[in-house]
Amino acid sequence: MYSKVISVFSSLQREAFISKGRMEGSLEVCLQSVTKSFCDENRQITILKNINACFQQGKTHAIVGASGVGKSTLLHLIAGLDKPTSGKILIGSDEISSLSSLERASKIGLVFQSPYLIKEFSVIENVMLAGKISGLSEIECKKKALYLLKEVELEQTENWEIGKLSGGQRQRITLARALMNEPSFLIADEPTGNLDEVTGNVVMSMILSYQKKSGMGIIISSHNPAVTSLMEKVFILKNGCLIESVEFVKAHEQRVKRV
Ligand SMILES: Nc1ncnc2c1ncn2[C@@H]1O[C@H](COP(=O)(O)OP(=O)(O)OP(=O)(O)O)[C@@H](O)[C@H]1O
Ligand SMILES: [Mg+2]
Repeated sequence: MYSKVISVFSSLQREAFISKGRMEGSLEVCLQSVTKSFCDENRQITILKNINACFQQGKTHAIVGASGVGKSTLLHLIAGLDKPTSGKILIGSDEISSLSSLERASKIGLVFQSPYLIKEFSVIENVMLAGKISGLSEIECKKKALYLLKEVELEQTENWEIGKLSGGQRQRITLARALMNEPSFLIADEPTGNLDEVTGNVVMSMILSYQKKSGMGIIISSHNPAVTSLMEKVFILKNGCLIESVEFVKAHEQRVKRV
């Protein structure tokens, strides 16, 4: 009976899961004079210096920069996983650090370079977890998770153990999990960094296809020009400063014209 209910829900409402109305809009993530310093052997090192920037819902943004420049640090701040030393990060009119983890989950989904999945849970249980934490019912979680597994073309792995998945499959499962709460923004820290070129392209095309349908914003860090050329806006992080790159935007426009 239980599985029958789930299957009726999933076939009837598959396309209704992406509630574009909720996701589309003019929500912005804005950094205002953001500085981040760490203490290292009694020395203070400032990684991010007085950064001002805005990222729009519905748009795709990349952050590029050399290794160690502070890309992950910046994304962790935007995701609310850490706090700036000074300055503010707002999502809409709310300061990210003031939101509860549940409120953050509905606004921000996260994908990291190394996918972290819980070995003791099956694939679908891992995806469902994000919805359960934010209070969705078992049935709601399952129907969303099934829909998202289909989106990342891994519906056949629903009951697999995590150990059976390849690296690319794991990354697609973490993507599905990140989308469970229909976030307004997806923050992805080198999501293709551990993948071969072909698998990385598959993951990126899934991210972008979902972004188009949902209207969410994307903020992605990457070293890979193939990834950054897909983004509408590219910011370069260097010497603690974040500067929007006009050249990358031109390259993106030329690429779009060619397609
Ligand atoms: N918690 C911390 N305590 C001290 N230093 C830190 C901490 N987190 C990051 N750092 C330092 O901040 C700098 C930026 O690190 P970060 O991981 O943000 O760089 P990155 O641009 O993401 O590099 P990569 O491209 O290699 O992932 C590094 O020098 C790192 O050692
Ligand atoms: Mg990093």
